[in-house]
Amino acid sequence: MHKSIIALGVESSCDETSIGIIKSAFKDDVLITEKLGLVTDTQEKLHKDFGGVVPEIAARAHSEKIDTCFYRVLKESGIKIDDIDIICVTNGPGLIGGLISGINFAKGLAFTTGKPIIGVNHLVGHALTPHMTDDLRYPYLLLLASGGHCQYLAVLKANKIKRLGTTIDDAPGEVFDKVAKMLNLPTFSGSEVEKYAKKGNENRFSFPLPLINTNDCDLSFSGLKSSVRRQVDYLIEKQSGLYESDQMDVCASFQKSMRIIFEKKTKKAVDLFSKLSSGEKISFSLAGGVAANQNIRSSLKSLCNDLDIIFSAPPLELCTDNGLMIAYAGTQIYLSGRQDDMGLSPKPRWPIDLYNQKPLGFGKRGRKV
Ligand code: KG4
Ligand code: ZN
Repeated sequence: MHKSIIALGVESSCDETSIGIIKSAFKDDVLITEKLGLVTDTQEKLHKDFGGVVPEIAARAHSEKIDTCFYRVLKESGIKIDDIDIICVTNGPGLIGGLISGINFAKGLAFTTGKPIIGVNHLVGHALTPHMTDDLRYPYLLLLASGGHCQYLAVLKANKIKRLGTTIDDAPGEVFDKVAKMLNLPTFSGSEVEKYAKKGNENRFSFPLPLINTNDCDLSFSGLKSSVRRQVDYLIEKQSGLYESDQMDVCASFQKSMRIIFEKKTKKAVDLFSKLSSGEKISFSLAGGVAANQNIRSSLKSLCNDLDIIFSAPPLELCTDNGLMIAYAGTQIYLSGRQDDMGLSPKPRWPIDLYNQKPLGFGKRGRKV
């Protein structure tokens, strides 16, 4: 049995280059994890004029920044290269150029130090985050809502995750980003939409709530996106432009629709999840960049209160992509006895639940998983 494990986690699957270091040790058979350092270099500014992540720009930025992130995280944590026991790296799903940068970096480090290398599924990293941050016990229900994914997951064990529902078209973060672009906000991101929404009237526009009455927890966002686009086009045509109050009201009304969709679908997901769990009090958590949205977060918290469900949400910096979640998931994989070798390769498409695949729609990053 290991006394303690220091794990390095490398994340570069989308537009954050992030490296984290954690230390995990068993105390009375329980794994206690401590954060030692985290450095995240976001590429938001590089992609801001394009309304989405440009894969070629992302890949180049990852390979330019990954070394400096590594040296900064060593300095921040006071850890030397030799102190690191395992090297964990996201090897999918994600943009292939970014994945290759991260994997090559991790392989180089593993080769020169002789330490084990462990490939981690990015979605598993998100899914296990509440287990690390809030010590949430298995099984728990998780909503993963990000720029590339939207899924309700039953996290039964570290290595047993069942998908209960998923988006059939766009991911919610992608729609937040598009709305920011339609409104020409200072940055094309969900956090900017949230800022504008705070000052807007959420009842001025009535946007659709796709799929909320179906008896499952699949989701759809493309109709909502088109409806916002039509409304914005109409305002621009009528007034020859948009006032700041229009931008704020559209943001607030759009965010309200998102919030209601998540409330309704979370209720359905809880029903499905309760059939899998054996009578114990249900726990619910959030992951992914959209989970950083305070409006959605607090409405799901009060829903859980009403349903007498344990609610937990990771700190904001761990909702978005980060190296700590990869270090943690990699530690779990290592403890289960699996490790990879120099043959580790990127898997741009890598569903979390291979046994539960439905032919769904296509998004900007290919088929939804
Ligand atoms: O999980 P994440 O960091 O990366 C992946 O997509 O895997 O999520 C990024 C997404 C972006 O689309 C971003 O606009 C969205 O999460 N996001 C937000 C907020 N902060 C980030 N969406 C709504 N409200 C926010 N506060
Ligand atoms: Zn992510």
